[in-house]
Amino acid sequence: MRIIWLFSITIVTILCIRTIPVYSQCLEDQRSLLLQLQNSLKFNPAISVKLVNWTPSKDCCDWKGVTCDQAGHVTGLDLNSEFISGGIDQSSSLFSLQFLESLNLANNSFNRKQIPSSFGNLISLKYLNLSNAGFGGQIPIALSCLKRLVTLDLSALFFPDPYLPGTAGLQLENPNLLTLIQNLTGLRNLYLDGINISAQGSEWCRAISSSLPNLQVLSMSNCYLSGPIDSSLLKLQSLSEIHLGSNDLSVPVPEFFANFTNLTALRLSYANLYGMFPEKIFQVPTLQTLDLSENIKLQGVLPLTPDEDGDLDFEPGIYVSVAVGFVVGLGSFIGALALCKRWRQWYYKHVDQVLERTFHLEERRRRRNRRKRAYRDPIRRL
Ligand SMILES: *[C@@H]1O[C@H](CO)[C@@H](O)[C@H](O)[C@H]1NC(C)=O
Ligand SMILES: *[C@@H]1O[C@H](CO)[C@@H](O)[C@H](O)[C@H]1NC(C)=O
Ligand SMILES: *[C@@H]1O[C@H](CO)[C@@H](O)[C@H](O)[C@H]1NC(C)=O
Ligand SMILES: *[C@@H]1O[C@H](CO)[C@@H](O)[C@H](O)[C@H]1NC(C)=O
Ligand SMILES: *[C@@H]1O[C@H](CO)[C@@H](O)[C@H](O)[C@H]1NC(C)=O
Ligand SMILES: *[C@@H]1O[C@H](CO)[C@@H](O)[C@H](O)[C@H]1NC(C)=O
Repeated sequence: MRIIWLFSITIVTILCIRTIPVYSQCLEDQRSLLLQLQNSLKFNPAISVKLVNWTPSKDCCDWKGVTCDQAGHVTGLDLNSEFISGGIDQSSSLFSLQFLESLNLANNSFNRKQIPSSFGNLISLKYLNLSNAGFGGQIPIALSCLKRLVTLDLSALFFPDPYLPGTAGLQLENPNLLTLIQNLTGLRNLYLDGINISAQGSEWCRAISSSLPNLQVLSMSNCYLSGPIDSSLLKLQSLSEIHLGSNDLSVPVPEFFANFTNLTALRLSYANLYGMFPEKIFQVPTLQTLDLSENIKLQGVLPLTPDEDGDLDFEPGIYVSVAVGFVVGLGSFIGALALCKRWRQWYYKHVDQVLERTFHLEERRRRRNRRKRAYRDPIRRL
């Protein structure tokens, strides 16, 4: 009996020793590809926190920024903010990491080099983040081969300076937007902010609505887009965030934005919008953030919230003056209007401060409260 016990314990132990470590250990070829990549990348070892700690003596699946699957293939690489200034060309060993599903090179400075077309070899990618990575020039058509992508972030939030050579951002001219995305049908999150797309509404709206049925986040601020905003976008009923600020749209805000049932954020600052803002959009129950700042030709009346007593505040002063703020776009205080409760409180507090200076609301409120009390307590006053 005891012998059988010992025997089975030994077998279990052998099984453990043999199987468990294998799961977390990175495969030799993957390790050597990563080491080649580390060697070729130009980065500042004094400030790097990930690459600098890739030491051959440790299991490469434990290196910072590296994720593996159970078989030891590298499936994730996150080298964002590593002060990388170059070292990825067409033949980089990066592009031999065939199992990569997630790649983040955001927030580095690749010196306005073009995005190498070998990125198209990484066909397992579901997540690609090159935001503020410092790439420039025309986006290669090769990215349209990444058919499993769910998230694509090529955004650059810093304004490119067209007059300084070498600072121009990314371009989507040839291929254009449609060619880039038409086969990326699984995309749910698309961030192209800061890319020169230079397209009219009929073109960019249809490119997106005909290609990306599952889109949830559409972020294309500062893309040199123009209007009109085409109602074909309504096909995308999963859309929850729409960011189109800093484009010269030159249109009224379309009322059909109110028909997106899952809309949580609508950001349209600096978009040269005009006309009346459709009130229906305020009624979208899921909406939490609405940014309309710096659209000086936009008019509208903000919905008012109940005050502390639960009374709706219909004081004409506030009504009109908020509308005035809306019209003249008192900058971010009034413009970045957020509708979820916490933000609403913050917002109204600040709007109140702005309006206070202009319209002396507090004085009026005190007068009104005195009037109210007079109505409420007639007996005590007698
Ligand atoms: C970009 O990198 C800088 C320097 O490491 C860091 O301070 C900043 O937070 C990073 N930004 C993002 C968005 O990760
Ligand atoms: C891309 O990476 C940057 C820096 O890590 C991050 O701030 C940003 O949220 C990422 N984008 C997406 C879509 O995950
Ligand atoms: C997209 O797919 C279609 C059909 O498979 C193909 O004809 C077309 O060339 C592809 N476009 C791109 C840009 O890959
Ligand atoms: C954007 O692209 C268009 C055409 O592709 C070009 O005419 C324009 O100069 C570009 N603008 C900037 C700021 O790069
Ligand atoms: C809207 O959001 C809900 C909750 O996140 C989700 O279950 C639903 O599928 C979404 N609707 C569409 C059309 O995507
Ligand atoms: C938006 O929804 C309303 C009713 O909810 C409907 O009357 C209107 O036609 C819809 N707009 C569009 C552009 O589909």
